[in-house]
Amino acid sequence: MLDVRDLHIAYPGQSSEAVRGVSFSLEKGSLTGLVGESGSGKTTIVSAILGLLPAGTRVSGRIEVCGEDLLTLSEEALRRRRWKEVALVPQGAQNSFTPVKTIGSHIEEVLRVHCTLAGTAAKTRVSALLEQVELDASIARRYPHELSGGQKQRAAIALALACDPALLLADEPTTALDVITQAGILRLLLRLKEERDLTVLLVTHDLPLAASVCDELIVMKDGELIECGAPKKLIHAPEHAYTRRLVEAM
Ligand SMILES: Nc1ncnc2c1ncn2[C@@H]1O[C@H](COP(=O)(O)OP(=O)(O)OP(=O)(O)O)[C@@H](O)[C@H]1O
Ligand SMILES: [Mg+2]
Repeated sequence: MLDVRDLHIAYPGQSSEAVRGVSFSLEKGSLTGLVGESGSGKTTIVSAILGLLPAGTRVSGRIEVCGEDLLTLSEEALRRRRWKEVALVPQGAQNSFTPVKTIGSHIEEVLRVHCTLAGTAAKTRVSALLEQVELDASIARRYPHELSGGQKQRAAIALALACDPALLLADEPTTALDVITQAGILRLLLRLKEERDLTVLLVTHDLPLAASVCDELIVMKDGELIECGAPKKLIHAPEHAYTRRLVEAM
């Protein structure tokens, strides 16, 4: 589904690389946790997969989605793939809604712009999407400030699913939520993965949380991939000292 090979990324004006020689792959229909401390390069990798790095960023390696190297595609070709093939629940998604627009109009706009769906068909789809993320269809008429943090996070997931992507990148979707709400969001991602055969990359700095739901874990530190594998193996037999420290801190 997704194959990242020897990815190097340096932001404009930076002499050191934010991502250094990272390789991993995601199986179709799998839930993979990208784990690492703040600044380890998680969001940078996510931005690269979406083709959303700032202009002037130096990128090398390969990012293959369904056999096609995204790094060789034009901006236009990348734009066509965003939302429909690869969609993002951005870090801080709860604060990314425009305050003066209802949740429904946020989703309708994505449907209109990216999936050429409008009118009654779009309204029906909005209700269906909200139901998929276990929100009442009436939420569509509410403004962002009328939702709880957990509801906003679910709405952000509904928005990302609008055009039925095959790959969902969820950047810290549970940060700033209480433990019960976090667990609800994780169960939702797990259900979506199973029901829609969705491939999910779950970015988090929370190793125990990722270990509780993911099929595979990728551990990053300072822009490098330290270790990857099944959660059981990583937790019970970590090969790298850094992973061992993370596990011990659990
Ligand atoms: N636009 C940018 N320009 C320059 N440097 C950047 C930019 N965005 C991120 N960086 C740097 O790249 C490195 C990796 O940042 P990144 O946002 O990928 O980390 P992260 O693992 O997502 O951290 P967090 O858990 O805090 O979200 C950091 O050193 C950061 O300062
Ligand atoms: Mg980040």
